[in-house]
Amino acid sequence: MLFVWKSCWSSLHKRNYLPVKLGFSIFLLGLAFRLLFSQSSGFSEVSEAPFLGKIVKPIAPLKGKCDLFSGDWIPNPAGSVYTNESCKYVFDHQNCMKNGRPDTGYLYWRWNPRHCELPQINPEKFLEMMRNKTWALIGDSISRNHVQSLLCVLSKMPCHEEVEHAVEVYDDQEGRSKRWHFSSYNFTVSVIWSPFLAEAAIFEDINGVSTHEVELQIDKLDTKWSEQYQGFNYIMFSSGKWFFKSTIYYKNNKILGCHYCPGKNLTELGFDFAYRKVLRDFFNFIVTSNHKGMIFYRTSTPDHFENGSWFDGGNCKRTEPVKEGVLELNEMVKIIRDIELTAFEEAAAKASETGVNLRLFDVNPLSLLRPDGHPGAYRHFHPFAKDKNAKIVNDCLHWCLPGPIDSWNDLLMEMVVNGKDD
Ligand SMILES: *[C@@H]1O[C@H](CO)[C@@H](O)[C@H](O)[C@H]1NC(C)=O
Ligand SMILES: *[C@@H]1O[C@H](CO)[C@@H](O)[C@H](O)[C@H]1NC(C)=O
Ligand SMILES: *[C@@H]1O[C@H](CO)[C@@H](O)[C@H](O)[C@H]1NC(C)=O
Ligand SMILES: *[C@@H]1O[C@H](CO)[C@@H](O)[C@H](O)[C@H]1NC(C)=O
Ligand SMILES: *[C@@H]1O[C@H](CO)[C@@H](O)[C@H](O)[C@H]1NC(C)=O
Repeated sequence: MLFVWKSCWSSLHKRNYLPVKLGFSIFLLGLAFRLLFSQSSGFSEVSEAPFLGKIVKPIAPLKGKCDLFSGDWIPNPAGSVYTNESCKYVFDHQNCMKNGRPDTGYLYWRWNPRHCELPQINPEKFLEMMRNKTWALIGDSISRNHVQSLLCVLSKMPCHEEVEHAVEVYDDQEGRSKRWHFSSYNFTVSVIWSPFLAEAAIFEDINGVSTHEVELQIDKLDTKWSEQYQGFNYIMFSSGKWFFKSTIYYKNNKILGCHYCPGKNLTELGFDFAYRKVLRDFFNFIVTSNHKGMIFYRTSTPDHFENGSWFDGGNCKRTEPVKEGVLELNEMVKIIRDIELTAFEEAAAKASETGVNLRLFDVNPLSLLRPDGHPGAYRHFHPFAKDKNAKIVNDCLHWCLPGPIDSWNDLLMEMVVNGKDD
């Protein structure tokens, strides 16, 4: 039997089994990590696309009780529920602890909605509800960032249980789309990389090196997700940031114009035009889809480059959350957000007629308050080991894991399992 030691600690302590004076022992965590790691194999038989089981009971929307998304970050002395050593799903670029980020204060906060309680996700209860179910997170690399957080949080189980951990059952070879299976719950989690939600030819490698403008079919939804769509019980979509990139727009397979393509003699249509069009089609598809599960649209999260942009030395060196009103969304993200909220509002009205369970997962405002949650220079392994003045391209867009987006799972738990919503 395997234990995840941090979670064991509180229950051991309560039951007085051990004079646990060590606190949270990095050593034991390391041991658990190695044991967990050596346990992963099998399950390759579970590799087909998952299909929709019966939804046991539709979750009735509750009357306006509480807006989970307005609140404050408050100190949380317990800290994160996993570490760089207890969770193996974290990608190196977001593994700030492993990469040597020196401060740890950013781990000791939790999201506290202003008018209601937000308990920490209960992995056991969540997994129990997810028996025979499938989740998909669909979008860009922030969705990938989130899936790792979700897997880490769910893999942490109470002490007397066998550790439940997800086994990877699919990988698209590029690490962009993946699928995991929690065998004892027959629960499947997928992440599908579809940064535009529409069909796009992308000439960019995983390091962001691009050889050609994106070619976006603004009138075609991406079959990468649309063909599997009915097979998922729960879906969280997101998009946004990729629309900023140099892109040629196609409609009916003909070039319509572009966004940022100097020298190409094409009409500049603006990224807002394209995002508006794609989201309109996307939501039309969703609200008329007769989908029986639960569908979230997650709003785009802000970046926090200060004193410059990502390409000219901008960084994110803050070590604490800020209060509401201290930071503002940059103009581009503001535009994205307006488009998302407008499109969602229209869609939600239609969804209530067609019976599709559509929810907004509005993490943009609470994310704005966490400039301290990004890897910054610690996207790289010990970036200043050789030269403490090294010039580093900072990542002030993705989120450290563990880190602020672990709270997203608490919000999910409230909305999905406890049926809370605003
Ligand atoms: C985890 O992070 C700590 C420092 O935060 C570091 O000492 C340790 O080596 C890291 N472990 C791994 C496996 O990266
Ligand atoms: C899960 O699926 C199995 C096999 O189809 C079935 O026996 C079991 O009752 C299902 N459990 C739930 C909670 O739906
Ligand atoms: C697992 O869940 C899927 C639905 O997601 C269902 O089709 C399948 O029968 C389940 N398998 C078992 C062994 O319960
Ligand atoms: C740019 O496009 C317009 C309209 O398609 C065309 O008339 C013009 O000759 C083009 N200019 C160049 C430099 O190719
Ligand atoms: C930005 O630059 C100003 C002045 O050089 C400095 O005081 C501030 O701390 C910097 N902010 C960040 C986040 O690095």
